[in-house]
Amino acid sequence: MTADEWLEKAAAFLEERGVPEARPSAEFLLAEVLGVGRATALSRGRTPLNERQALHFWDWVKRRGRREPLAYILGTQPFLGLDIEVTRDCLIPRPETEELVVECERLLKSSAASAPKILEIGTGTGCVAIALAQLLPAATVIATDLSDKALALAFKNALAHNAHRRIRFVREDLFSGRQSLRGWADLLVSNPPYIPTKDLDALEPEVKAEPRLALDGGRDGLDAIRAIVAGAAAMLKPGGHLALEIEERQGPAVSGLLRAAGFKGVVVKKDAQGRDRIAVGKLVE
Ligand SMILES: C[S@@+](CC[C@H](N)C(=O)[O-])C[C@H]1O[C@@H](n2cnc3c(N)ncnc32)[C@H](O)[C@@H]1O
Repeated sequence: MTADEWLEKAAAFLEERGVPEARPSAEFLLAEVLGVGRATALSRGRTPLNERQALHFWDWVKRRGRREPLAYILGTQPFLGLDIEVTRDCLIPRPETEELVVECERLLKSSAASAPKILEIGTGTGCVAIALAQLLPAATVIATDLSDKALALAFKNALAHNAHRRIRFVREDLFSGRQSLRGWADLLVSNPPYIPTKDLDALEPEVKAEPRLALDGGRDGLDAIRAIVAGAAAMLKPGGHLALEIEERQGPAVSGLLRAAGFKGVVVKKDAQGRDRIAVGKLVE
């Protein structure tokens, strides 16, 4: 069978199983099997797949049909132009988190800090820490996570992008034991687990395949956010910023938490779809 015929068969198979974006999923898998970009793969429509390619392709299509996320099958996810390795041990980087990084870059470039110190809580694949290290070559980053497996992957990703010398990865439960970092950071950034526990069961199968530790924000989704906001002021320099990714319904609650903790200039920013997604506050100087 030609590549086109395999694509048609795969798209129909995935559609029958309710896989979102069935055809593009099949195209990405075909491109990976052929070891080329998606456009090149599509241009090879009339070429037959050899037996090894066909077996490989159909094995991946079946996994996608079981609603395994495409990024877990491919083992990688683009993030702000970086190829980030992903495994089942960590959250798959999202486009809204790219916007969080861009906002952090803007905050730091408009601040007085020439060699900014960044603390990231809950680094997962390390995508935020690595992207910030690349965008801000004078920055130093400390990135924490509670998951040893996520930290190992984050370090691997940092090494792959030559950012490992400027990021220290530490196993840490939010802030516990971080006395040495008091007043250290110009920026504290986090994309914490923020989904209310009761909403987890209703998530798409692809999201349910991600680690619960990365998703579950407790009864109202705000457990980690509350703890981070409460501890942030002690970690930040005067004039430092706290930037958080939030769930779209959490804007008013998180702004309230930031103001109550003494942050000024609190703003909630919307993502490209117009949903509240990023909350920012500044510690008074
Ligand atoms: C939503 S994921 C974000 C991952 C990555 N920063 C990103 O944006 O793609 C949240 C991360 O926080 C970590 N985490 C959850 N609870 C934590 C805790 N108490 N202390 C530190 N990290 C925690 C999870 O393991 C997960 O990697």
